[in-house]
Amino acid sequence: MSKQDNSPTRRDFLKTSALAAGAVTAGLSIGRSAHAAGDDVLKVGLIGCGGRGTGAAGNAMNADPNVKLTAMADVFEDRLQNSRKGLQTRYGERMAVDDDHCFVGFDAYQKVIDSGVDVVILTSAPHFRPRHLKASVDAGKHIFCEKPVAVDATGIRSVLESAEKAKEKKLNLVSGLCWRYHDGTKDIMDRIVDGAIGNVQTIQSTYNTGTLWHRGRMEDDTEMKYQLRNWYYFSWLSGDHNCEQHVHSLDKASWAMGDQPPVRAWGLGGRQVRTEQPKWGNIFDHHAVVYEYANGTQVHSYCRQMAGCSGSVTDTFWGTKGTAKVLGGYSISGENEYRSRVKSPSMYDSEHVALFNAIRAGDVINNGQYMATSTMLAVLGRMVTYTGQTISWEDAINCKEDLSPSAYTWDADPPILPDADGHYPVAIPGVTKIV
Ligand SMILES: NC(=O)c1ccc[n+]([C@@H]2O[C@H](COP(=O)([O-])OP(=O)(O)OC[C@H]3O[C@@H](n4cnc5c(N)ncnc54)[C@H](O)[C@@H]3O)[C@@H](O)[C@H]2O)c1
Repeated sequence: MSKQDNSPTRRDFLKTSALAAGAVTAGLSIGRSAHAAGDDVLKVGLIGCGGRGTGAAGNAMNADPNVKLTAMADVFEDRLQNSRKGLQTRYGERMAVDDDHCFVGFDAYQKVIDSGVDVVILTSAPHFRPRHLKASVDAGKHIFCEKPVAVDATGIRSVLESAEKAKEKKLNLVSGLCWRYHDGTKDIMDRIVDGAIGNVQTIQSTYNTGTLWHRGRMEDDTEMKYQLRNWYYFSWLSGDHNCEQHVHSLDKASWAMGDQPPVRAWGLGGRQVRTEQPKWGNIFDHHAVVYEYANGTQVHSYCRQMAGCSGSVTDTFWGTKGTAKVLGGYSISGENEYRSRVKSPSMYDSEHVALFNAIRAGDVINNGQYMATSTMLAVLGRMVTYTGQTISWEDAINCKEDLSPSAYTWDADPPILPDADGHYPVAIPGVTKIV
């Protein structure tokens, strides 16, 4: 990271911006029209203090010695304080979040954004991403935005709008689709895109794993609280597991397709082993979806979360001149045989190195289009597995489905409610309709 001699200092920049804006606000961002010098402190706010958020805050501090975490938000106090404690142990005084900058509740994200930070890290449950992203862009913040970026098409359209606005405002928007920042993956993907296997005809993407955490029910949990603690198992919060997890594989498939959308998708899915109600909310445990592209290419995607089954997280690309493997091989066979020997540093750190280098250099990264397209592939996948119908991209992206509750309070009803037996309604292909 180089400090440029003629860089305005942070104070000069903030003064100039404030004068230009006619008002001094706590939320002025450093990067809208000038860059930060290498030794200027960049203040970061964390929204969503769980496993990934805590990790991402660390990645930000690993990436740039002059980054400090100054504000945190979570809907749950205990989650925030656990994360804060862990980060304090590891990062000492760079973990500069005092008690007044710990915000809890559904509106906590706005308080972080308004607290004078330059950069926000968006790592809450996926449902909230479009709203958190919009507020961050409106306030002129640089953003690290975890995947998936929405859970429905309404959210995707909002994300696309925010990404455009970020571009206009010259804000950095770096996506947490981390394989795009993994050097070994880039090495093979760039070769595929450059034609090493000829025209890509078929892609197989798998994300077949075991099961994940469950956080149980607390005595005083309202329905909203219970679902938020166990957000993974509610499609309105996670998008289902094909959206939350398998989006990584769909993203690589989409990358090979030049991030152009498919024409349509069809598929099958269900809930074979997640039968224990109400524990597993309403999500499926397997999805198999075929995405059909205008040029005839098909993406065959499979994801499963079941204990005791064979695991596989792989990406295979068959083309007219050969076959490429990313996860599960890092190699190309056929006319242009190749084995990647590229060593990759932590892709999670690399995302933040790119973000902070860009902020300091006055460059702009905007990953908005691909993070929205890849997430929409997953949303479309869920639409076809839940309904059992073949659905076009056009219909899916324009779909009015909006999985939001009527209000964000602990007493409000979530959009998915248990029946009289305490069972959550699970989609039934052939019966379930999407708006
Ligand atoms: N890129 C990757 O490899 C990767 C890895 C893990 C998770 N993730 C993504 O990161 C996100 C978080 O996942 P996680 O594993 O950290 O889950 P987590 O449950 O550990 O953390 C999520 C946190 O967000 C909080 N939260 C929920 N709604 C909120 C809101 N409205 N405002 C503020 N905080 C809110 C939760 O209370 C929780 O503490 C997910 O989107 C997930 O898909 C990405």
